[in-house]
Amino acid sequence: MLNQARHALFDRYLGISRLLAGQLEFHAIIQAVAAEISHIIPHDHLDVCIKTVDGKYHIAYESGLDTAWSQEPPALLTGSPIRTLLAGEADFLLSEDACSDPRFHFAGAFSSPIIDLSLRSRLHVPLKVQGNIIGALSCSSHERGAYTMDDVECARSIADLLAPYFFALRAAEQAKRSAVVETEARAREEGLRLGALKLTEALEAERQRIGMDLHDQTLADLTRLSRRMERLASQTELPAELTGEVLEPLCRTLQQCMQDLRQIIEEAKPTVLQLFGVAEAIENHLDRSVRDSGLPIRWRLADTSDGMLTGLDPTVAISLFRIVQEAVNNAIRHGQPDTILVRIDRRAPGLLWIEVIDDGCGVPARSGGASAEGGGQGIDNMKTRARLISARLDIGRPAGGVGTAVRLSLPLEHTAILEVHS
Ligand SMILES: Nc1ncnc2c1ncn2[C@@H]1O[C@H](COP(=O)(O)OP(=O)(O)OP(=O)(O)O)[C@@H](O)[C@H]1O
Ligand SMILES: [Mg+2]
Repeated sequence: MLNQARHALFDRYLGISRLLAGQLEFHAIIQAVAAEISHIIPHDHLDVCIKTVDGKYHIAYESGLDTAWSQEPPALLTGSPIRTLLAGEADFLLSEDACSDPRFHFAGAFSSPIIDLSLRSRLHVPLKVQGNIIGALSCSSHERGAYTMDDVECARSIADLLAPYFFALRAAEQAKRSAVVETEARAREEGLRLGALKLTEALEAERQRIGMDLHDQTLADLTRLSRRMERLASQTELPAELTGEVLEPLCRTLQQCMQDLRQIIEEAKPTVLQLFGVAEAIENHLDRSVRDSGLPIRWRLADTSDGMLTGLDPTVAISLFRIVQEAVNNAIRHGQPDTILVRIDRRAPGLLWIEVIDDGCGVPARSGGASAEGGGQGIDNMKTRARLISARLDIGRPAGGVGTAVRLSLPLEHTAILEVHS
């Protein structure tokens, strides 16, 4: 007779085990196993409470009756009526009448469902995995004194069956949540980067449009004005003091203004870049800016990149050029170098490497690779441009230790711009 009863109980446990299989959600598991458990421990209310991974909160999953315990968000562990069990201070809790049992009712206790739903008899056992308490299994009955120590032992066996399953489920949920948070953060960052990139593209287009307008309209007007003034200055009937002291200096100033304007237009509209590519545009800029500086600077461009600069997305090409342009300008303006070397190289498969090296005085230490105090915007702009195309920018000393090296590396396969534009 006793053997038969044991057999039946064993079958119930196996039944619970079978019902667990394939369930991937806490609530569904409780619903699935509650009926089978009721054959072993009759109850009006069954709940499994699971601690959050940080051990500060817990959330309940119920069957039979719905209480405020199972409502999101997770509640603080310190307010749980079974906090002693969850903290490992008690190995089980058995109450004949939980409505009047002082263990469940303390200041700040979340015990109202016990009273509201007349949960009188209550038994609680911990869910343990590798000695750690991950939650508790609780059975309640409206009847007073419904449970004995035999029921506690049965509940322990059921808890041992459920605990590993819940542990795995909690770990999976946690991993899923972390992955979602991480993906969202990355998407936000990438969204900002792409937004800023679009803005830069629009600004670059606008800059080029202004450059063309200045060329076609303002420069043309100034040229006409300059010719008229020259003609006026050459008229012999005008008094000499007017031509020599007023008109000629005015003509010279105007010529200077036009020269400055041509320079601005040239920088705003990198035609060489558009027509011939980044390497030619860099070479053109080196040649022109060194010549204009009037300084005896030697320069060299070495391109061993095996054609990596050809076929670049226009935004990437313009950004690379602008960064090198500013690095060259800085070398000439601040470094007083004897030589400037621009090296374009392929460092690893798909990794474009550009270095602007000068042997001048070097960036002052106080600027720490960023704009020096009272310095301008150049280095900050270089960094922003590099970030927008997912390139790495580093400013330091060259291998010899003298001067400045601006290093830029760009993994071309992963350049998001290519995908965005395709
Ligand atoms: N190649 C270099 N050699 C020596 N000093 C440099 C070099 N590049 C930058 N610096 C120093 O770093 C400072 C910051 O450079 P940054 O390009 O940010 O500003 P800027 O050139 O002074 O002004 P802007 O670029 O806005 O016209 C410069 O003022 C200069 O002191
Ligand atoms: Mg600068």
